[in-house]
Amino acid sequence: MNTHRLIINCFATALLLLLVGCHNTGNSIYISSPDNTLQLHFTLSDDGAPQYSLAKAGKTILLPSAMGLQTETTDLSTGFQWLDCQTAAHDETWETTWGEERYIRNYHKQLTVQLKHSSGTRMDIEFRLFNDGFAFRYIFPDNQADTMIVRKELTEYVFAQTPEAWSIPWRTEYYEALWQKAPICEKDTTCSPITLELQNGMYAFLHEAALVDYPAENFYYSGDTIRTFLTPWSNGVAAYKTAPWQTPWRFLTLTDDLQGLMASRIMLNLNEPCKIADTSWIKPMKFIGIWWGMHLKQMTWWNGPKHGATTETMKRYIDFAADNGFGGVLAEGWNVGWGSWDGPHPEEQFSFVTPYSDYDIDYLADYAHQRGVQIIFHHETGGDAANYENQLDTAYCYIEQYGMHAVKTGYVAPYINYAEGKQYNRSQVGIRHYRKVIETAARHHVAIDNHEPVMPTGLQRTYPNLMTQEGIRGQEWNAWSQDGGSPAEHVTVLPFTRMLAGPADYTPGVFNFANPIQPGTRVHATLANQLGLFVVMYSPLQMACDLPENYLLYPDAFRFVTEVPCDWEQSRLLDGAIGDYIIMARQDRNTTNWYIGAVNDETAREVTIDWSFLPSGTYDVTLWQDAADAEWQNNPYALDITDFQLRIKRGKAELTNGNISLPLSIRMASGGGFAITVKERD
Ligand code: NOJ
Repeated sequence: MNTHRLIINCFATALLLLLVGCHNTGNSIYISSPDNTLQLHFTLSDDGAPQYSLAKAGKTILLPSAMGLQTETTDLSTGFQWLDCQTAAHDETWETTWGEERYIRNYHKQLTVQLKHSSGTRMDIEFRLFNDGFAFRYIFPDNQADTMIVRKELTEYVFAQTPEAWSIPWRTEYYEALWQKAPICEKDTTCSPITLELQNGMYAFLHEAALVDYPAENFYYSGDTIRTFLTPWSNGVAAYKTAPWQTPWRFLTLTDDLQGLMASRIMLNLNEPCKIADTSWIKPMKFIGIWWGMHLKQMTWWNGPKHGATTETMKRYIDFAADNGFGGVLAEGWNVGWGSWDGPHPEEQFSFVTPYSDYDIDYLADYAHQRGVQIIFHHETGGDAANYENQLDTAYCYIEQYGMHAVKTGYVAPYINYAEGKQYNRSQVGIRHYRKVIETAARHHVAIDNHEPVMPTGLQRTYPNLMTQEGIRGQEWNAWSQDGGSPAEHVTVLPFTRMLAGPADYTPGVFNFANPIQPGTRVHATLANQLGLFVVMYSPLQMACDLPENYLLYPDAFRFVTEVPCDWEQSRLLDGAIGDYIIMARQDRNTTNWYIGAVNDETAREVTIDWSFLPSGTYDVTLWQDAADAEWQNNPYALDITDFQLRIKRGKAELTNGNISLPLSIRMASGGGFAITVKERD
């Protein structure tokens, strides 16, 4: 990457920072969003308790809500004295290394209130007001020597009216659950994030950004109040911190419609700019892998008669990838240690530098380079993070030495074994571990697809080698889940919930719905739905999950998989309703082509495409849609493919060739969907 691009990429293209003294009346101050629609009111009560409330266009959204922390020794939610405050305005546009769009505007107003506690502790609260939401964090400046033992965070959000929330329970292993909607007064403890439907028709997304060296947050509920619960160490402590330090940002996106919610980039804006000087080796790509065969129980991870990652199979997959334009091949089960994975050698430990004897890594790496394909390494730790950390540097040197740039990591175990003992991966210990892995990988030019992660919080802005993560009930559940597989509705909920926290390795693209070894479980989708997912589920490392031989069964459908990109110039929600359906349009980052993907729940429906998002021009359009008699259960493969040509002038579409009528109405089957390529004519 040249220096010019680097500067644009990692720093602001325009920056306006004005520091202004506060006009506060005693212990109270207002701050508005740049467009003045959101107004935040901060007060310090008579007993020195910090509180904030929020209004949008004059309507109260949040009533006075408590702030602060409880440490081992001090209640930092009351007893403060107001020292000073500053306001600032900020407007910059920065370029993403990869993403759902190339340019992101970071436009907000800032308020910093400086407080002093009766115990002597200094605490600042920094607020940022965006047009589409607000954020705050607690800062403990550099003037206090002792380690602070954080027991609790006391941040709350008191809603003026009861919203409904989409959430998953906080104990959900690896965040792999079906999201459920209920009024918040009926919720128990949930993970962060949650997506809220407000009574006045607005939508909100509550989450945290820039989670560094601090536990992941969760929420618990009482009436219309949402409270914060930090994932503890095994001894009950939330965090050990030494000043200077700050909490992650707590943010609430608040928009009038789902389009606004999907377009909000508050979380990324709250993260630090890119810290990797040369990002040229970080390349978005589609990949295939020796993977689905294991989940279907046709192959094993460990060495044996059904071993998946053999030299021969890997060579065949590399050829298939090269022939069909995939950038990489994932090889799970390439390394020694899987005997402990309900295989024949429970005493084995994972080695991240020792291939199985039937996997010739030297030969395969050479062959992959010849064919222009990356081998994606796999580091399943089985939850033994201590064993992984002991090998970390060598393991990443090993990948680098083969000229490869990607790894999928995994932590399958409810509690993780760290040097500090068994802990939640979402505790401060786990957060530190993931950070260490990301930074080590970056030093060795390796990008990460992190499975069993902590919920993403936008760290990919700072470390764009953290390309994608799991933390989602992904496609694999449709291979082995005892409940028969995820209902069709699931993929119409995820884009508005989990996916707002960042890219997910959902692994779209099942082409063969038969599941001979576990016939009670299957994908609740049609072929057209599986195509639509490639656009709907954003991931810059996008895995087409099925076996190569299955892709060859439907070459016409497979054409879309080979053509669709995974790095975008811009993205738009065209239409959708949480839990019903979604239609996403995205423009390729490297051409003027657009790609549209849609997925549907169990209820067949007709939708209409509004083409006004397209710039004026003439486009060749191909539509892959459910045939009239398609439906996921009995007729999932029935697919119609239609070509036509459109001329767009000032947002109006005119048909110039083809056998369709405008406006274009598309039927989505039960569990169905569609995919469209829109290619501009020269
Ligand atoms: C769970 C991951 O989600 C899956 O993708 C992987 O194949 C297995 N663990 C083994 O690492």
